[in-house]
Parts: sequence; structure tokens; C-alpha cells
Amino acid sequence: MFPLWSRLGVRARVTVMFGLGALLLSVMMGGLSYFTTRHFLLDERQSASLHQAYVNASLVRSSLHSGDTHLDQLLASLDAGAGSVSVLYVHNTPFSSPLAATGDIPAGLRALVQSGTPATQTFVLGGPRIAVGVPIPSVHAVYFEVFDVSDLGHTLRVLALALIAAGAITTILGAAVGRSASGRSLRPLTGVSRAAVAIAGGRLDTRLPAVAGDPDLAGLTTSFNLMVDQLQERIEREARFTSDVSHELRSPLTTLSASLDVLEAHSDELSARAQRALVLLGADLRRFQRMVGDLLEISRSDTGSADVSLEEVEAGELVRQSVAASARSLPNDVVAPAVLVDQAVAGTWLTVDKRRFERIMANLLENAALYGGGATEVRAEIGPPLLDGSTSLRVSVEDHGPGLAPAERDKVFERFYRGDAAGRRGAGIGTGLGLALVAEHVRLNGGTVWVDETEGGGARFVIEFPVADEADWW
Ligand SMILES: Nc1ncnc2c1ncn2[C@@H]1O[C@H](COP(=O)(O)OP(=O)(O)OP(=O)(O)O)[C@@H](O)[C@H]1O
Ligand SMILES: [Mg+2]
Repeated sequence: MFPLWSRLGVRARVTVMFGLGALLLSVMMGGLSYFTTRHFLLDERQSASLHQAYVNASLVRSSLHSGDTHLDQLLASLDAGAGSVSVLYVHNTPFSSPLAATGDIPAGLRALVQSGTPATQTFVLGGPRIAVGVPIPSVHAVYFEVFDVSDLGHTLRVLALALIAAGAITTILGAAVGRSASGRSLRPLTGVSRAAVAIAGGRLDTRLPAVAGDPDLAGLTTSFNLMVDQLQERIEREARFTSDVSHELRSPLTTLSASLDVLEAHSDELSARAQRALVLLGADLRRFQRMVGDLLEISRSDTGSADVSLEEVEAGELVRQSVAASARSLPNDVVAPAVLVDQAVAGTWLTVDKRRFERIMANLLENAALYGGGATEVRAEIGPPLLDGSTSLRVSVEDHGPGLAPAERDKVFERFYRGDAAGRRGAGIGTGLGLALVAEHVRLNGGTVWVDETEGGGARFVIEFPVADEADWW
């Protein structure tokens, strides 16, 4: 019972509690009504029987006094209810109506009445019966009358059935009231849960609407909104901090870079040791500059100040141009990938920020060159319809490198995540921001990105964008 109870939701528990409460109440009320009615009906019938038995007993006494000897006929002529039995003992000789009914008198009652005490007894003999015994000492007789009260049993059975039916209906109604009341009181929680999901999904400006007139809910709403206010403030403060730091670092880095250019221009005047130091300094400074640039870009999107300039572009052309531009900045020994634009893509238009799309392709191609021996192909094709039914364009970048283990495939999009150095060319060079930036650029363009593997086990990065419906912009 208890493990099952703890598995039930709040709504189900309240429903069960209301149902049980209603059942308990109906059992109590029903029991009380049944026993009170039963007591009352029996009482009433008993006093009626008593009255009639005394009337009949006095008739018998008068007849005996007047010397009537046809006692069986006398008993048959008495006024008794249907099914009732009259028994008379005169000097222990029994007379009865109907005949041979003397056995209907309980022995205990007979003994008691024969000792001179009038008495009544309720008992069951093929149905409920009330027996009344009246001594008539003046003629050495005792008179008994047994009343059939089966109709009372029937009435009580009907009453019990009616009470059980009423109890069942009350229980069902109680459970229904519990279900509807719990549903109504839990409704605000659905709002809270929806708001929490929205906040977790990044919509930090989500708030619960103010509730007027309900102090319990107003308290919940106020504290929830206060919590989100503080959370939002904290997240924005941290994002601003990263943005400010990156910004502040840019000017000294520019100065350093300019000074380095001067030194590099005069490197032949330096000693061989100093030249080696200059080369190392140059590599690290450029890496640092790139990291600061990436951080600034990421923090801009965190603070919501990223500028997204969308334009309508032909998908195939966009992919070809971006790959060509990115390939130019790759080392000379890296072979440019084949660009395969599916026929169905021809004439497909995308609404994207071109600069961001180019950065996405550049980062993916650079990674393929560093960790996968160079991208082998970039493919653009129409993907399966998106959840909202719109068409999607998929662009995938494949390489023949070692690929990514399934456990690593989500992590690579985290900030500063750098994969396992073992067996990877170029490991240790990057800062781990490249794919995090790819994810941000894709998100700002309304798309999604993921990585899986090619047939040969290499990495395949896939980006998916909704396609602008032609009717929307022509
Ligand atoms: N094509 C690939 N094949 C195998 N591993 C990859 C591939 N692309 C990325 N990775 C792994 O994912 C990690 C994260 O990549 P990401 O581009 O975010 O960072 P990075 O290349 O290390 O640094 P950055 O790009 O910021 O200079 C890499 O360190 C690498 O281990
Ligand atoms: Mg990278």
C-alpha cells in the first residue's frame, strides 16, 4: 500500500483522500440512520404487539370465566395480524391457532410466563418474530401470541440497500470533488512549471503573472519572480563581467601585437635565441588574441547584445562561398573539401546572418583540418521536416579522422572543452571555444547543430536551419 501511495501524484492522493472521507462519512451516517430506524420500527411494533396480546388475553380470560370450552375456536376467532400465532395453556393443556403451533413459543419465555411474569421476546423462526406471554392466574392459564414481523425485515433490507447506494454515490461524488478541487488548486503549479521550463531554456525574462486576491498564490508568485529576478541579475552580471574583461584586454593586446609586428620586422637584428623567443611569443599572442575575440563574441550573445543581421541568401551559393573563404585561411597542405549541393537545394533560400554562417563553416573546417586530417566533403541537402512542419536545410562537414566517442559528442559544444589529446593531430593548440561559438552562431540563426560519425568512423558535424518559405519573402 505505502510504496503504491508514494508513487501516486498529489492529485490522485487528494482524490483518494476525498473519496475515503466521503465513504467514512457515508458509513457513519448510514449506520446511524439504519440502527435508529431499526430501533424505532421494532419499538413501535413491539408496543403494538403488546397492546394486542393484552386485549386478546383479556378476551380469553372473559371466555374462560364464562365457561367456554371451545378454546381452539375461540383462539381462531381472535383478532391477530397475518401470520401470527395464538397459544393458550390451561392447566398445562395447550390450545393453539393455527393448530399444532405450540412449538413456536420459545421454551425460556414459556417458563418465565408460567412462573407468573408477563414477558416479550424477539426471536427468529423462519423470519423475525415477537412473542408476548401474558399469565392469566385467575383461570390457571397462560396466553401467548407470536407476531410475524418479516415485513419489518423486508423494510429494513430495502433501507440498507438504499443507504449502501447513497454511500456509493457519495463516495464517487467525494472523489470527483477532490479531483476537481485538487486540479484547480494545482493549476498555478502548472504555470510555475511552464515558467521554470522557459527559464531553463534561456528565456530569463519569463515571469509569473501577479495573482490578486489569493494570499497563498500571491506569496508563491512574488517569491518565484524574486528568485528569477536575482538569477537573471546574477547571470547578466557574470556575462557582463566576461564581456568587460575581454573588452579591457583588447587594447593592451592590440598594443602588444603592434609592438610584436615591429619586433618581427626587425627580427634579423636579433640573436637566434631571441628570434626563437619571438616566434613563440607571436604564436601565443595570436592565440590569446583569438581567444579574447571569441570570448567577447560569446559574452555578447550571453548579454543579449549580439547583433544579428539577417539576410535572404541562396543556400547552395552560401555554402560554396563560405567553404571557399574558409579554405583560404587554412594551412596550404590542407586540401579543400568537395562541396556537394543536392539538386533539391537549388533555389532554396535561407534567412541567415552571413558573417556568422561563414564563422561556423570556418570553425568546422579548421577543426576538421586540425583533428580529422582535413574535411573530405561538405554536403548541403534538404533534411526531414522540422517539428513545426517547416522545411530544413542540412549542411554537414565530414572528415576521415578518429571521430568523437559518443560520450564526447555533446561535451564538445561546451565552453573550453578540449578533447582527449591522445592520437589527435593539433591537440593542445586550441582553447576549446570554437565549437561553443559554432553552437551560439547556429542558435542565433534559429538552427541546431550536432555531431555524429561517418561510415568510416570520422566526425560528421551537421547544422540544420529552417528554410525561409518562398511565399514569405517574394
Ligand atoms: N573534426 C573533429 N574530429 C575529432 N575531434 C574534434 C573535431 N572537431 C573538434 N574536435 C574535438 O572537440 C574539441 C573542441 O573543439 P573546439 O573547436 O571547440 O575547440 P578547439 O579546437 O580545441 O579550440 P578553438 O577552436 O577554440 O581554437 C577539440 O579540442 C577536439 O578534441
Ligand atoms: Mg576548434
